[in-house]
Amino acid sequence: MANVITHEDGNTFVAGGLTFNFINSNYKEHKTTDSEIVVLKSADILRSYDKVFDAAPNKNFLEVGIFEGGSTLFFAVAHPEFRISALDIRDPDDAVLRHVHNLGLKERVKIHYNTSQSDKDALEKIIREDFSGEDIGLICDDASHNYNLSRSTFELTFGKLARGGQYCLEDWAWAHWKSTSSTSLALTNLVFEMVVLLPSTRPLIDSIEILPNYVRLVRGPGKTNGDVNIDSMMRLRGKKLTLI
Ligand SMILES: C[S@@+](CC[C@H](N)C(=O)[O-])C[C@H]1O[C@@H](n2cnc3c(N)ncnc32)[C@H](O)[C@@H]1O
Repeated sequence: MANVITHEDGNTFVAGGLTFNFINSNYKEHKTTDSEIVVLKSADILRSYDKVFDAAPNKNFLEVGIFEGGSTLFFAVAHPEFRISALDIRDPDDAVLRHVHNLGLKERVKIHYNTSQSDKDALEKIIREDFSGEDIGLICDDASHNYNLSRSTFELTFGKLARGGQYCLEDWAWAHWKSTSSTSLALTNLVFEMVVLLPSTRPLIDSIEILPNYVRLVRGPGKTNGDVNIDSMMRLRGKKLTLI
């Protein structure tokens, strides 16, 4: 909740007795230590997630993309009623794991390193084991921001959300930022596909909210037979979306 942040000074803030440092450039030069946790979301963005947690229909949260542990640890202290399962392709990070241990979070916060967001078997196992076979209330994809990888995560996990479940795709707009020089396929392509899926799959997706920092989908009551298959589910009248 918002008032978990007890002190703010520039990019540094304190929550649950932990000091967080919001980094917005030269990410790779910053490491979480025992005294300070590196986070790639500002205090305001983290606060903006309060309404997403509040709207989640159950207390199971899957976070894709851990980096130096900042958002995972923040959400763990801000939303103590949630079970959190987080994964990242990185090697295990002792400082992050030490925080989880020292805060007594090991039962409630499960961290999976060396795990790709597109690894179907790994995702299925993590979801099954960490959430005891229950549906998920909230999924946040803040990992590669790569169109194909994020698309896989969406296809593999969206169907596992409970009705009313929240799906957030972070930093979808990177291709349109002034600072962007990458010529990779834009994550925007996935957003276009999500928009087409809404009417095509009704009532699988109840709504899509497009915000500058993230896109939020709400899971409708429609059923899937497992994974969501974007290509076969979009009704495009024989036409194709052009990738940008
Ligand atoms: C934007 S950072 C996450 C920031 C973190 N959520 C925060 O707010 O502090 C993205 C993370 O995604 C991870 N990542 C990149 N490609 C990935 C993949 N294919 N599967 C899983 N994680 C990946 C990176 O290793 C990196 O740690």
